[in-house]
Amino acid sequence: MIVAIDGPAGSGKSTTAKGVAEKLGFLYLDTGAMYRAATAAVLAASIDSDDELAVSDCVETIEIDFDETGRLIFLNGEDVSQTIRGQEVTQNVSTVSAYPQVRKRMVSMQRGIAGHRDSVVEGRDIGTVVFPNADFKFFIVASIEERAERRQKDLAGLGVDQTVIDIVEDLKRRDALDSSRDVSPLTKSEDALEVDTTSMNIKQQIDLIVRHVRDRSARKET
Ligand code: DC
Repeated sequence: MIVAIDGPAGSGKSTTAKGVAEKLGFLYLDTGAMYRAATAAVLAASIDSDDELAVSDCVETIEIDFDETGRLIFLNGEDVSQTIRGQEVTQNVSTVSAYPQVRKRMVSMQRGIAGHRDSVVEGRDIGTVVFPNADFKFFIVASIEERAERRQKDLAGLGVDQTVIDIVEDLKRRDALDSSRDVSPLTKSEDALEVDTTSMNIKQQIDLIVRHVRDRSARKET
């Protein structure tokens, strides 16, 4: 069974997807982390992220793996879980993830990892492109102010101090890039259930999705 969870940056989808996977006992796949790892590979090779051909060639050769919890990510065998959350990767990932060849490779890897087992897969195009036949599709949204405040707390936890105003600008820039790209833009699949988490806490978000999946699965079985 595939549970697809899509939505913009800072909507709360990562924390929700991790919690849902844990409660259901499913594999957790963070596809954003894969685009970030691909970007880290490009930067490590000193390739300009605007050089589509060089970026695409580089991404063609990389290996990406996760640990069994899905929380640690390895690039060519090296743990890059911290590196991929840094500013440099964050600033370049929208450019790298917009290239068709990069997306083709990532989508094929994602289907290979999650396609044959019960999985919760989070990203931007899971319900629309990667797993259009997913059993359940959710699209997580939240107000931009709430998203920026959540991101500020996450960054503070990593020791990074950034103002909410700066974060709002960064989120707007990434939303615009992710939603306007030609290949697999961030859009809500018509059959996805929209969940607005602006005034919800993490537990409420997780419980809502788990309850929905369990109720519908039980109904399908009877
Ligand atoms: O979820 P995140 O912020 O870690 O994702 C990082 C970037 O990767 C984001 O700017 C858009 C891109 N992305 C994508 O294009 N498709 C996905 N399925 C997941 C992420």
